[in-house]
Parts: sequence; C-alpha cells; structure tokens
Amino acid sequence: MGLVTAACLAEAGHQVICTDIDSHRIASLNAGVVPIYERNLDTILASARKAGRISYTPDAAEAIRAAEVIFICVGTPPKDSGEADLSAIDHVARQIAKEAQSSKLVIEKSTVPARTGLELQRALGAYSRNGIKFRVASNPEFLREGTAVSDFLHPDRIVVGVEDESSARQLREIYAPILERRFHCPIHDGPCPPGPPAPFLVTTINSAELIKHASNSFLALKISYANVIADLSEQLGANVDEVTHAMGLDPRIGGQFLKAGLGFGGFCFPKDVQAFIHLSASVGVDFSILKAAETVNKQRIDRFFEKVRKALWVLKGKHIAVLGLAFKANTDDIRFAPALEVVKRLLDDGAQVHASDQEAIDRAKTLFPQVHYHEDPYEALKGADAALLCTEWDIFRTLDWARAGKLMARKLLIDGRNLYSPALMRELGFEYYSFGRENLRSEGSASKS
Ligand code: UGA
Repeated sequence: MGLVTAACLAEAGHQVICTDIDSHRIASLNAGVVPIYERNLDTILASARKAGRISYTPDAAEAIRAAEVIFICVGTPPKDSGEADLSAIDHVARQIAKEAQSSKLVIEKSTVPARTGLELQRALGAYSRNGIKFRVASNPEFLREGTAVSDFLHPDRIVVGVEDESSARQLREIYAPILERRFHCPIHDGPCPPGPPAPFLVTTINSAELIKHASNSFLALKISYANVIADLSEQLGANVDEVTHAMGLDPRIGGQFLKAGLGFGGFCFPKDVQAFIHLSASVGVDFSILKAAETVNKQRIDRFFEKVRKALWVLKGKHIAVLGLAFKANTDDIRFAPALEVVKRLLDDGAQVHASDQEAIDRAKTLFPQVHYHEDPYEALKGADAALLCTEWDIFRTLDWARAGKLMARKLLIDGRNLYSPALMRELGFEYYSFGRENLRSEGSASKS
C-alpha cells in the first residue's frame, strides 16, 4: 500500500520520497527492482523515476525533513489477542517528532482502530522538539491487491478525517489531480472512461478510521453470508451461483463479494475483522454478527477438507496438485492465504503436494520447502490423484481440462473457488466437487452431498 500510494502520488505530479525500516527493500527499489508483484506498479514507478518525482532513502530523518506531508503506511499486524499491533505507528510517530525541523501534516494511511489518530497526535506532541506543531489526519485506503494502482487512481471515494480546515484543504490539493483525472493513466489507453469525480468526503478522524474497518468488515460479512448460503444450497439441492446472482441483482444487495468458496484470506480482511471485534469488545459493544462471520470463514477449510476426504478417502501417499497459492489472483501475497492451510493439512496427512501458481511460488517455497513447485500447471497435474483449485488465476480459468484429464492418474477436481461448471466437468468425465452446487462423484453420478 505504501509503494502504490507513493507511485500514484508521484504519477499525480507530487514529489515523493519513500523510506522504509527494511534497507534491502530500499536498495532493491533504488536498483529499479520492485519487490512485490502488483500489476502496473513497475510501469508507473519507472515513469515517476524517469521524471525525477520519486526517490528512496533508508535514512528516515532525510525523508522526514524533506517532506511537508507524511503518509504513514506501516503494517498493523494482529497480536495473539486479535488486537491491532500499533507499535510500528508509535515508532514512526516518535521518529517524526524527533527528526522534524518544521511543522508537518501527518496522515495515517495504515488501517488502524478508531481513536488511533488521537494517540498519534499525543505521541507527536510528547516527543516534539523546539515547539514544532504537527497536524494529524486519517486517509484510509480502499485499494485491493492485484488492482491496487487502478483502484488508487480511480477511487470510489476519498475519505479524509481531519480536525482542522487547513488539513482538509491540503489533502484536497494532494488529491486534486486524481479527482480531476490529471494524470497519465497506466490502465487505460488514452483518457480514463468518463464519469463523475469520486466524492471527496471530509469527516472527523474517528469517523474516517471507523469507515475503513466498517467497510472491510461488511465485505467480509457478505462473503461469509454467501458461504453459508452455499452450505445451505448444497444440503437443499439448490445452486449457490443461481441464488447469489439473483440476490445481487437487487441494487440494495449488489452482486459483488458474494462469491462462495474457500473464504477470505490476505493481510486485510482476517486481521481487520479480528481488530474490529477486539475494538468493539473493548468499548462494550456486542459485535456477535462479525464474530459469526469470522467463525464461518475459519470453517471453510474444514468444509473443503470434508470434500477432499470424501473423494480421496486416504491422503497418505497420494499425489495432489494444488492450483494456486496466493490469497487471490493477480498478487504474489500469500499472507493468510487459504491455500497455505490446505497445503499444510495435506502435508500433515502425508500427501505429496505439487503446487502451481503464477507469482507466489518463491514466497511459498520459504514456508513449505518439501512441496514440489511447477510454474506450468500441467506439470503439477501429471500423475495427480486429485487437483485442488485454491486461487482463481486466469490461467486456471482457461485450463484445458480434457488435456489435464489425460495427464492425471484420476480425473478428480475439488474446486475451492467455484471456477468451473459442473455440467462441463461432467461432460469431460471428471469427478467434481465445489461449494453449494451439484457434486459429481465417481463415474459422473450426481449427488447432493
Ligand atoms: C480488501 C478490500 O477489498 C479493499 O477495499 C481494502 O482496501 C483492502 O482489503 C485493505 O484493507 O487493504 P484485498 O484484501 O486486496 O482488499 O482483497 P479482496 O479482493 O477484498 O479479497 C479478500 C479475500 O476475499 C480474498 O481471499 C478473496 O478470495 C476473498 N473473496 C472475495 C471471496 O472469498 N469471495 C468474494 O466474493 C470476494
């Protein structure tokens, strides 16, 4: 998020200086190597660099002194209790206060619990030297991994939580090129599709912080709701895709984030849901509805494994192809990826795992060196007793299952993302299991469970 923010603000014409506690990351960026896979990020970083609008330094003091406005984009990982760990925010606040030689606007972009802004303001004040004053604002980010650059440059809304008019004005100036589409869009050839500018919402800092957690948690709720409907559909002989499609046509519900499957992963939803539950409990508000969504999500892997065991009976010694490791398509991020838990359980049961992913293999290797990795999915499928689809990469969407079926020892596919049609898999003679739809057991015979 930090690098995308930096790149897009530079693309919008601002002068950006980036710093990070990880000096290897800074060295890599200085060498022109982007340390994560995110579509279009390399292009806009290269053009910002060429235009002299972005630079990287391991020296935080240099970055702090050079800036009028500072965006804090550090991680806020979960503690064991689920509470957000704000130590990186605290560390950065002290650093800013100590190193600054002039007054600054300090903006929280990291996802933080409501009222963090007040603590940030207090920390900046407590460590400030020479009477330097800091203004604090909250500017939550709604970008998704995989489409982060596009989301930043074409936002649905820009939320700024401020305590004074001048901070609101400064943030409006920063975002003016994006609101007025005065940037060279790396996504669209030519001008971006026409449309009204995104609403620029000025709120209190507490509201801005709450907006971010409330939005992510609502989307997580929606996914878990769809997953329960999938379980119900399976038991009652309905088709979850038909149900959620029809539900989504009601504009009050909306069709997005109703995709049933292995559930939500990544470094945002699982941790933000936990942090929001923790926050609400700390102020005595009952958020059982969100706890239920979290429980449903944790059970998705159990549901998946019920299918795996039903189909394969014994896992020990079986050759299993795992298609997809990243927590979703178009990213190399494997943090809290459902696929990792799938791989772990397969290995625990003594299966031989052959995994394929477009971008996440290098990261997964460090966690599971005993897995056999293949860039080419057909290599992972060669001799497999089953294929387990965990991430909805396009390459898997368009996989030639007739060809795959000839390579596999057994034509068995367990689809954790409802990517394929049961009718097509029946035609190809596959045993096919997915969520909330007809399951095809051996010899293509249909069953409800
Ligand atoms: C999410 C939010 O969508 C962003 O708006 C937010 O800015 C970001 O978190 C953040 O807080 O930084 P992201 O985690 O990148 O973005 O990914 P999503 O596209 O939201 O997907 C999250 C998970 O939900 C993935 O594992 C995905 O497979 C799963 N999902 C999504 C479903 O299981 N079903 C769906 O219908 C949609």
